[in-house]
Amino acid sequence: MTTRSTSQEHRRKQIVVLGSLNIDLVQRVPRIPVAGETLIGGDLATYAGGKGANQACAAALLGGQVKMAGMVGHDVFSGRLLAELQNAGVTTDLVAKAAASTGSAVIFVLPNGENSIVISPGANAEVTVPIALQAVERLEAGDFLLCQLETPMQSVTAAMKAAHRKGVTTLLDPAPAHGLPEELLQATSILTPNQTEAGFLTCSPGAIETMAQAADAARQLQGRGAPVVIIKMGAGGCLIVDGVQMTEASGFPVQAVDTTGAGDTFNGALAVALAEGLDLIDASRFANAAAALSVTKPGAIASMPSRSQVEQFLEAAGSRV
Ligand code: RIB
Repeated sequence: MTTRSTSQEHRRKQIVVLGSLNIDLVQRVPRIPVAGETLIGGDLATYAGGKGANQACAAALLGGQVKMAGMVGHDVFSGRLLAELQNAGVTTDLVAKAAASTGSAVIFVLPNGENSIVISPGANAEVTVPIALQAVERLEAGDFLLCQLETPMQSVTAAMKAAHRKGVTTLLDPAPAHGLPEELLQATSILTPNQTEAGFLTCSPGAIETMAQAADAARQLQGRGAPVVIIKMGAGGCLIVDGVQMTEASGFPVQAVDTTGAGDTFNGALAVALAEGLDLIDASRFANAAAALSVTKPGAIASMPSRSQVEQFLEAAGSRV
């Protein structure tokens, strides 16, 4: 990827991720069990995860200057999560401890790599408005704030509004799907739903299968405030809607092992590429490549690629990013 920042720019753009930190309890299953059924799955695996921590690690592993803001509990999981973030190069001084359990997620992974997730918010639910505002205090115009919806809506909204007022580029991953206040959408520079979330937000659940349907959904969401909407289409890549311009960025064919955290990898990578001066389309291609690599290994943070892996992958794919 070509960096377009100039040598006169002394301060690197900062990326703050305000969001969840979870311990992921993952089981591979032949299919999702129905009510009343007991299934035999694979061995239980535990990974560091949470949409916020995932996005922070993805961005740091790809070379971003990243700070994580959020809450963990007073239990054995908090140390592991902080260590994994720090190993990835994320600054964690904005992660506080709550008198609650660390957030967790129970994840079923199907043979084709798709997953079903149930989260238990724990300490993530304790991210208050003052904590959220502290996270954006040091950001300046041109920096980046990444949020998702596993921390309380009022805290996410307060941080996004404060950051937006400063000229920070704000990315909102509306996951898990939840109704969005208009003031939050209006403080969002780039909204990045996946197909399920885009369907939920436009009252057409299950209906975003094609790029044409994604385009309709993106236009509706743009009408509510976010100037840029990127709909993540899984293996199909993404649709980028920026003002009146609409562009499809194809996915990269890979053998999926576990798709957990692929959307988070996309967001972290997108922020890094934009922070380095790429335009939205090239940044989305870079993010598609990082997300594709992440599904080839198990786990969320555990599967995220390094910068050189993404660059080699893009080169092998003959992509011009
Ligand atoms: O997006 C994947 C993440 O969702 C998992 O790591 C899990 O913790 C849940 O937050």
